[in-house]
Amino acid sequence: MSHQQADAIDVEAIREEFPILQREFDGQQVVYLDNAATTQTPDPVVDAMSDYYRESNANVHRGIHHLSQEASEAYEVAHDRVAEFINADGREEIIFTKNTTEGENLLAYSWGLAELGPEDTVVLTEMEHHASLVTWQQIAKRTGASVEYIRVDETGRLDMDHAAELIDDDTAIVSAVHVSNTLGTVNPVSELTDLAHEHGALSFIDGAQAVPNRPVDVTEIDADFYAFSGHKMAGPTGIGVLYGKQNLLEDLNPYLYGGGMIRKVTFEDSTWGELPWKFEPGTPPIAEAVGLHAAVDWLEAIGMDRIETHEEELAAYAYDRLEAEEDVEIYGPEGGPDRGGLVSFNLEGVHAHDLTSIMNDHTIAVRAGDHCTQPLHDKLGVPASTRASFYVYNTRDEVDKLVAALDDARQLFA
Ligand SMILES: Cc1ncc(COP(=O)(O)O)c(C=O)c1O
Repeated sequence: MSHQQADAIDVEAIREEFPILQREFDGQQVVYLDNAATTQTPDPVVDAMSDYYRESNANVHRGIHHLSQEASEAYEVAHDRVAEFINADGREEIIFTKNTTEGENLLAYSWGLAELGPEDTVVLTEMEHHASLVTWQQIAKRTGASVEYIRVDETGRLDMDHAAELIDDDTAIVSAVHVSNTLGTVNPVSELTDLAHEHGALSFIDGAQAVPNRPVDVTEIDADFYAFSGHKMAGPTGIGVLYGKQNLLEDLNPYLYGGGMIRKVTFEDSTWGELPWKFEPGTPPIAEAVGLHAAVDWLEAIGMDRIETHEEELAAYAYDRLEAEEDVEIYGPEGGPDRGGLVSFNLEGVHAHDLTSIMNDHTIAVRAGDHCTQPLHDKLGVPASTRASFYVYNTRDEVDKLVAALDDARQLFA
C-alpha cells in the first residue's frame, strides 16, 4: 500500500500492517514505546522473508542452479538498495553484518588492531553506546592507544569547543554516535567528521538511532565509516550494515575468514575477493537481507522526511508533557530539531525498574536501565532511567497513557 499523503503520516493505515500492535494483555492493548531497542516489523517485510523461504531459498555465492541464482541475486541487490538508501556509491561500500555492534567490531579489529599504536588517540563522546565505547576501549588497551571523550554539556549536547581541543594531530579516529540512544541528542556529525579530516583522522559514525528515523546521506556527512542495524528500522534481527568508503575498505584486511570471501587459496596463503564479499565470510543472512530490502522500500514509501517530522513532534510532545510533571527529571535537549524520537527520564523516588514494571501493568512497553551507556549515567548521577522511544506507528494518545500511568507509581511509592 502507499502511505504517501500530502502532509502528515497516516498512522492508522500504517498500524494495520502491524498485527502485533493489536495484541492485548489483560484486556489492554499494547502501547509499544521501546523502539530504540527494536522496532516492530510490518507485514510486507515479514511477507518478503516468508516468500523468500517458500520460493527462493538456497545458499548464495552464485551456485549454478536456478534457486541459488535467484537467492544470490536477491542478496546482492539488497546491498544496492541499502547503498541507494543512504546515498553510498554502490554495493562495494555496503557490508552486511549481524548488527551495529558487529560493524563497530569489524572496523576496530580490522583497522584499529592493525593501525593504532601508543602515539594515537581515539576520540569518542561521553554519550557513546557500549557498542563503540567498550570496543574502542579494548582495542586501545591492546594497541597502547589512548581514548579521550568529548564532553556532554548540561543541556545534553556535545561541547564542540572541547571537541575542537581534543581532536588534534594525534587523533587517529573520531567515533561518534549520530543520535544518542539515551539523551536523544542529534549530534553534528558532519562537523565532527570535518574536524577529524582536518587532522588526518578517520571518522566513524554510529547511526543505529539515526538511519531508522531520519534521512541519512553518508556522502553529505562525508563519514569514512557508518554503521546501523536492520531490527531498529522495521527490518529483521540478524542483519546490520557497515558502510565504508570504497578506497578505505580496499585497503583493509578482513577480520573474519572463511568461505565466500577469498579469491585464491593455497596451502600456504590466501588472497581476498571483491568488496563487499571479502568482509562477509560464510553463509550470510540471506532472508534477513531480503527483509532489510523490503524494510527500506517500506520506509521510503512513507518518506524519511515525514518519519523524522512525526518522531520529532512526538518526542517534543512527550518532553513537554513530562516536563510539566514537577517530579520528573528528563535527560537531554528539549524537543526540537536536535532531539531524536526518544525521551529518557526518572520519576522522583521511584527506581526506573519499578516504574517500568508499573508501566507494564498498563501494557506500556518502555525500557529501564542504563541503555548501554553506563558512564553517561554515572555522569548524570543516576544508576538508570526509563526510556520511551517512538516510531512511525506511535501516537500522542500513547504518550498520554504513559504520562497517566505515572500516577500509579506515585501512589504505590509515595
Ligand atoms: C546508539 C546505538 N549504538 C549501537 C547499538 C547497538 O545495536 P545492536 O544491538 O543492534 O548491535 C544501539 C542499540 O541499542 C544503539 O542505540
